[in-house]
Amino acid sequence: MQNKRSESDLCVASNREQSFPSSGNDGGIRRIGSYHLRAFGEVDTELVPSLAMAAGRALLCRPQSEVVSGEVKTSGKEETFVLTTPLYYVNAPPHMGSAYTTIAADAIARFQRLLGKRVVFITGTDEHGEKIAAAAEASGSSPSEHCDTISQSYKILWKELDISYDKFIRTTDQKHEAIVKEFYSRVLNNGDIYRADYEGLYCVNCEEYKDEKELLENNCCPMHLKPCVPRKEDNYFFALSKYQKALEDYISSNPDFLKPSFRLNEVQGWITNGLKDFSISRSSVEWGIPVPNDKTQTIYVWFDALLGYISALSEDSEQSNLQQAVNSGWPASLHLIGKDILRFHAVYWPAMLLSAGLSIPNMVFGHGFLTKDGMKMGKSLGNTLEPMDLVQKFGADAVRYFFLREVEFGNDGDYSEERFVNIVNAHLANTIGNLLNRTLGLLKKNCQSTLPYDSIFAVEGNSFKDSVSQLVEKAKYHYENLSLSSACESILEIGNVGNLYMDKNAPWSRFKQGGASSEMAAKDLVIILEAMRIIAAALSPVTPSLCFRIYSQLGFSKEQFEAVTWDDTRWGELRAGRVMAEAKPVFAKMENNQDGDKKGSSKEGKNKKILRQGLVEA
Ligand code: MSP
Repeated sequence: MQNKRSESDLCVASNREQSFPSSGNDGGIRRIGSYHLRAFGEVDTELVPSLAMAAGRALLCRPQSEVVSGEVKTSGKEETFVLTTPLYYVNAPPHMGSAYTTIAADAIARFQRLLGKRVVFITGTDEHGEKIAAAAEASGSSPSEHCDTISQSYKILWKELDISYDKFIRTTDQKHEAIVKEFYSRVLNNGDIYRADYEGLYCVNCEEYKDEKELLENNCCPMHLKPCVPRKEDNYFFALSKYQKALEDYISSNPDFLKPSFRLNEVQGWITNGLKDFSISRSSVEWGIPVPNDKTQTIYVWFDALLGYISALSEDSEQSNLQQAVNSGWPASLHLIGKDILRFHAVYWPAMLLSAGLSIPNMVFGHGFLTKDGMKMGKSLGNTLEPMDLVQKFGADAVRYFFLREVEFGNDGDYSEERFVNIVNAHLANTIGNLLNRTLGLLKKNCQSTLPYDSIFAVEGNSFKDSVSQLVEKAKYHYENLSLSSACESILEIGNVGNLYMDKNAPWSRFKQGGASSEMAAKDLVIILEAMRIIAAALSPVTPSLCFRIYSQLGFSKEQFEAVTWDDTRWGELRAGRVMAEAKPVFAKMENNQDGDKKGSSKEGKNKKILRQGLVEA
């Protein structure tokens, strides 16, 4: 691959690492270190900081706020937690891989809200570029019609999956375009954009030039297994190489920036190998944001889309402006991404932000892939799993729970329907659902569905409460560290401990004995129901609907459930006299396909499935 600067547009220079560019204009030619670049249009230099200042200031932006495990503590203000999913390409409707990041982000957002923070949960769609234009053409619609349709399909899926996002940004939104242009101008005015010829192998699916060394036989992209195409273009480039030292320093002095920690090694490896400038415009792509003052080029889709994390922060009602968006919550506390887009988020994006004088996000977490037969599930490979089918068949809670519990967050995970059904039945229907159901059944039979004791009194002198408290603490620790599977495991363990307790104490026989035994049995029921309430509060980030149904069965209203905070995972909320609702299964057992197939496609079989689903939704 070659990166040739065109001499007509800029002067070739040497020694570029040695000095940061000056910001002064020089009769149309900007003198940048030992480079001479043409000035690219009118930029308000008052607005734009010099590169040296920008890099320094961005790093120095921090002292006003203290970074605590991925969140920003702003003195005297409500704590804000801004988290983002990637903005999804709209070349095709969402698949389970895209849904996975969003489900995880939603669980984290809900957990942070339980902690009492002001959460801004950002998601959206990435709608420009060659890949999208080609998809629109193939579907016989205009790019904007195509984007409207696919973007909408994401919103529909998020609704079905109970995704509680606060902002949905589309990169075709006007406010976004204005902010991208302003950002571009800042970087330009910092002397970090120059024009050059580029020749290399391009993967349209990755929207990225590839290094030949990374490619498989026939120049195939290892991710998409499709040949990369040779391209030669005259583009604008971003001077990434200038930020080599700043990035090295940032990463080594912010050990929590990249998670899980094994991703850090990968990123450090890229940086140490030497950062190359990358092209940030395309002359051959019409479907994009025009480069300010050069209508012959559009802004490279990544240089455009990453800005969505900032433009999402601006209010729709406001005249969009970069600084105002930044003031509304930047930097993000957490970017949640898949490992394939780590380089863009851990290298390109921080350098772009430094160049524009903006703060770097607190944390980038690169999760693994959902795979099918060991290959990344993806739209380009066509080996996807339809999340809508899964939700319609099994319900949102089951889908959310399975992927968060089954896949260690950060690692890859394979899907199998058999495993899906087994896990969800065992954990949600049996451990949690049955325990609640049989306890409520006993309470109805023996105590008219009314709690005879305060839970705090019922548990006096009993170590059960301590076991629950320890497990809740563990769950909190895991949530905070984004170990979502371990958080689920700790909460489920409360259910296991509860089932063991019931089996050991057998309140059904104690009730028969009467007297003091009966009193002990009544206390046991209160203890289990309080544990169920705690499970519901703690698991609500993962399975919100199921947890609401548990709360309802325990006699709470929707408003009361919505007001739950992490403090409610403490023992003692259930009081004597509370009347429980009619016991209904909160989570119906699912059949796996094989069972369904055995029943054939008879009407009876189908109706049974629908009935079961109805029960789940009750
Ligand atoms: N548009 C870019 C992101 C721009 S962010 C400013 C993009 N889009 S994508 O639709 O291709 O991918 C979005 C996310 O989905 C990525 O984090 C990617 O890792 C994730 N996944 C896509 N397939 C996946 C799996 N099979 N498994 C898990 N996540 C995967 O990249």
